[in-house]
Amino acid sequence: MHIKTATFVVSNQDVSKCPENNLAEYAFIGRSNVGKSSLINMLTNKKKLAKTSGRPGKTQLINHFLINEQWYLVDLPGYGYARVSKSSKKTFQKFITAYFRKRKQLVSAFVLVDIRHEPQQIDLNFMQWLGEHQIPFSIIFTKSDKLKPKAIERNVAHYQSILNKSWEELPKHFITSSASYEGKEQLLNYIDSINLALKNTKPQFD
Ligand code: GTP
Ligand code: MG
Repeated sequence: MHIKTATFVVSNQDVSKCPENNLAEYAFIGRSNVGKSSLINMLTNKKKLAKTSGRPGKTQLINHFLINEQWYLVDLPGYGYARVSKSSKKTFQKFITAYFRKRKQLVSAFVLVDIRHEPQQIDLNFMQWLGEHQIPFSIIFTKSDKLKPKAIERNVAHYQSILNKSWEELPKHFITSSASYEGKEQLLNYIDSINLALKNTKPQFD
């Protein structure tokens, strides 16, 4: 799939204020600094569409980006950032949870994990929570440019062996890098295939 247009639409803390039309959307979630905003910029070929930072805690709101006038990519705040105050952590958690529970237009979540790291409990718990709420998701391994191919293979296999303990069927996964553009085509084609399938099974989100 080719992205022709990508535009910022709205940011907010309140799921009821998200765009009201019935377009499909895909949300990026994961620990702070894992590369959610960078991946949105990589996919859309726009370096400054989503705000990124070397310091965790950059994205603080639900951000909707309209793609090809047809669907949305949604950038969310990260979880697990120790230096965010307790009260703002609670606020984040509240509106992120509300977003995932209430947003009918959400077709699939992508849980981003840094390919270099051991599986983190907070990510595994979040995936578990998505499963319990029957929210479809895939895993996106990020920052693949930081590892050699053999280490990537090893880390993905290790991650899957951990998931195997609690999942009957393993979630789909993608290996990506916003620096080398690895995974761009696979991810966009995957989203495209879902959009196409949805088109053929209207009505969508009633
Ligand atoms: P929050 O908004 O704080 O939750 O973070 P985020 O998940 O949106 O991360 P962001 O995209 O802001 O990136 C965090 C840092 O990781 C930045 O310094 C990016 O340049 C870097 N980064 C993101 N993706 C990649 C990648 O694929 N490769 C490398 N080498 N660095 C990356
Ligand atoms: Mg961000």
